[in-house]
Amino acid sequence: MSQKMTAKTIAMAAALVALPMTAGTAFAADGEAVYKKTCKMCHATGIAGAPKTGDAAAWKDRIAQGMDTLYTHSIKGFKGKGMMPPKGGNAKLSDDEVKAAVDYMVGQSK
Ligand code: HEC
Repeated sequence: MSQKMTAKTIAMAAALVALPMTAGTAFAADGEAVYKKTCKMCHATGIAGAPKTGDAAAWKDRIAQGMDTLYTHSIKGFKGKGMMPPKGGNAKLSDDEVKAAVDYMVGQSK
């Protein structure tokens, strides 16, 4: 019995250690992938008034609103002078994937 318990304990400990590591890596990788697939077509060139990725001046005031506002605007959509479609028009994206893409874009635009 004690042997069985040990194996189970080790497996559980391994899972606990592995979990945050995989989650962290996936999160960072996804943001760029999601951006390239869904957001880049507007945000690379600034189509329809989209703030261009890498253009710090275009992002300054938007970043100043706080990340939570940027996340909400990206997930639910946002209409300013232009129109940011909900989830960039890709409803299949999870909220977390959209947030990761926002993190990526903002990281490139400071
Ligand atoms: C069809 C074009 C288009 C696509 C695709 C698109 N965006 Fe946008 N986005 C816009 C436009 C236009 C604006 C500017 C809206 C305004 O302020 O007038 C904008 C604004 C934003 C903002 C700033 C919102 C604010 O509060 O100022 C964020 C963040 C953003 N987009 C994230 C994303 C993310 C993340 C994706 C991909 C999942 C994405 N966008 C895909 C057009 C697009």
